[in-house]
Parts: sequence; structure tokens; C-alpha cells
Amino acid sequence: MKFTEGMLREGSLKDKNILVTGGGTGLGRSMSEYFLKLGANLVISSRKLDVLEETAKEMTANTSGRVIPVACDVRDIDQVEAMWEKAKSELGQIHVVLNNAAGNFISPTERLSTNAFNTVLDIVLKGTSQVTLTAGKDWIAQKQGGTFLNIVTTYAWTGSGYVVPSAAAKAGVLALTRSLAVEWAKYGIRSNAIAPGPFPTEGAWSRLLPGDLVKKFDPAKKVPVGRVGEHQELANLAAYLVSDFSAYVNGEVITIDGGEWLKGAGEFNNLDQIPQEMWDMMEASRGKKS
Ligand code: HXC
Ligand code: NAP
Repeated sequence: MKFTEGMLREGSLKDKNILVTGGGTGLGRSMSEYFLKLGANLVISSRKLDVLEETAKEMTANTSGRVIPVACDVRDIDQVEAMWEKAKSELGQIHVVLNNAAGNFISPTERLSTNAFNTVLDIVLKGTSQVTLTAGKDWIAQKQGGTFLNIVTTYAWTGSGYVVPSAAAKAGVLALTRSLAVEWAKYGIRSNAIAPGPFPTEGAWSRLLPGDLVKKFDPAKKVPVGRVGEHQELANLAAYLVSDFSAYVNGEVITIDGGEWLKGAGEFNNLDQIPQEMWDMMEASRGKKS
């Protein structure tokens, strides 16, 4: 068994209808592909219908499950409500919402226009809350329960310069996740989050490590386990969290980053740059004194 392999047994998500925002590309697509493999039916949504349609076609080429592409800008509540109605009319009851859509780019904060800052806040925090409220209200009204899984980042709690709107918005999504985990548990609604470390995707890499930055700031070098994430690793965790196997997990944020954020947090963690010979020398000089 390897970490690049699927973890859950066949049929683990059978009869689950799952809505994935940002499901046409990157990590949303990878998680969706695995859900489909495990027996789920999907609605994948984002702004670009052509991308969604192509993804849906490729995903369903070798499987029997259904993948419905629905265009929706999560910043627009009318589009969100229309997406929800379309999802239900195509698949019936929706059991799981994966809030994965996001927008982000690097910039010194003082260079951001008001519109630039608001654009990221609106996609990430307003978009997630609008999808959550639309689904949650319906689940409560129908007395049916449901499961939310929200994709955040580790800088949701550490903060981070140069991606400040994203950090502020993801912190809000994390607060939303934990708050509703308590408030809506009585309706049979669970809310959890995943905080991924670096997982290569075209969308993230082109905006966060544009041009030569990817060579200069090799993300793998910041990760104690010495590599970036494999999409299947994230898909395995996500599939568990949306499945009934995780029925007692509620209000949790699970980090999957090879230890990256803790390495940045520890005061002396950068001493791993000291070579073994220097530690030998220090040890030897200590020995002489005693
Ligand atoms: C400064 C920028 C900018 C940049 C856009 N803007 N890019 N400002 N630096 N690089 C400004 C624009 O000038 C404009 O402000 C405002 O932002 C809105 O830009 P638009 O292009 O009109 O917005 P829109 O078409 O809605 O596109 C949204 C977007 C874009 C966020 C700007 O990048 C996008 O579509 N992103 C979606 C996918 C994505 O970001 N994926 C990465 C997620 S990765 P003005 O004032 O000029 O009108 C992620 C990982 C986190 O979250 C953790 C990693 C470890
Ligand atoms: P991605 O491929 O760019 O995914 C972002 C998705 O969001 C796209 O499919 C995009 O599709 C959609 N989207 C953007 N704005 C939208 C809007 N207004 N309405 C609806 N959909 C919108 O990047 P990714 O790396 O896979 O990111 C996926 C998630 O993982 C994000 O939440 C991100 O913050 C998180 N994450 C990623 C990493 C990483 O290393 N990759 C690390 C930590 C967290 P359209 O353009 O068609 O709308």
C-alpha cells in the first residue's frame, strides 16, 4: 500500500450526492474524481462552464456515476441559489457540500486596490458562507442533515504576509466551520475543514509562485518530510471526512502539510541548517569542560 493509492473501500460513498465548488480544476477535481470512484454522484461547479463540461466528460469516461457541471459564481447569491436548485433537480437530495472554490494571488498588501482585496474576500469568505447558508437552510427545512467540508489553509490561524485577503478570508471560513459544527449538529449537520500545505496545481502555482519564483522558493524545501503533497493523499482524507466513517468527527480542521507550518512556527527549527560536524564539535567542546 502506498500513499498515492486510494484508501477507502469500494462503494464507501455509494448513494451520496456531493456538490463540489471549484470542482473543475486542481484539488477540487482530484477530490471529485476519487468521490466518483467510491460511488458518489457529483455536481461540480465554478464560473467556467466549458472547463466543467470537459472535466465532467473526462471523469465519467470510465465510470457509471453521474457528474453534473453547473456554472456558478459563488459571489452571487442568485447564482448560488440557482445552482442548489439545479443540483437537487438533477440528483435529488444533496448529502455533502465541499466548499473548495477560492481566489488568491501574492502582493504586498499596501499595493492592493480595495477591489483586489474585496475580490478575494468575496470568493473565499462570502462565497463559502453563501453556499453554506443556502445548503444549510434547505437541509434544516427538509429535516435531512448533511455534511460540510471546507478547504482552508494553515495560515488561517498563523496569518501570512503577502496573501492577507486570503488569510483573513480563510480564518473566517475556519470560524464558520467550527461555529456551525456546534450550532447545526442538532440538525444532523456536520462541519469539518482540511488545511492543506503545498499541493501543486496550475491555479495555485501560477498565482502564488509565478515566473521564476517557483525555483527561488521551492515549496518542498519548507516541508519537514521533504516533498509537496500528492493529490490522492488529500482525496483520501476528504473522502473519509465526507463519508459516514467520520460520523463522530465534527468541528475539526485536519492539517495535511508534512509538518510545514509547525516547522515555520518553532523558534529554533531553522537549526536544521547546522551540519552534523558542527554538532560534533559543540558536543566535543562540552565534553572538555566537564
Ligand atoms: C494585485 C490583482 C492581482 C494580482 C488581480 N488583481 N490579480 N491585484 N496582484 N496578482 C486585482 C485586479 O487588478 C482587480 O482590481 C481585482 O483584483 C479583481 O481582479 P479581476 O481579474 O477582475 O477578478 P476576477 O476575474 O474575479 O478573478 C479573481 C482572481 C483570479 C482572484 C483575481 O486570480 C482568479 O480567478 N482566481 C481563481 C483561482 C485561484 O485563485 N486559485 C488559486 C487558489 S490557491 P482593480 O482595482 O484593478 O479593479 C490558494 C492556496 C493557498 O488559495 C495556500 C497555498 C499553500
Ligand atoms: P484552483 O485549481 O485554482 O481551484 C480554485 C477553483 O475555484 C477553480 O476551479 C475556480 O474555477 C474556482 N473559483 C474561483 N473563483 C470562483 C468563483 N467566484 N465562483 C466559483 N468558483 C470559483 O486551485 P487549487 O490549488 O486546486 O485550490 C483549491 C482549494 O485548495 C482552494 O480552496 C485553495 O485555497 C486550497 N488550497 C490549495 C493549496 C495548494 O497548495 N494547491 C494549499 C492550501 C489550500 P473557475 O475559474 O472556473 O471559477
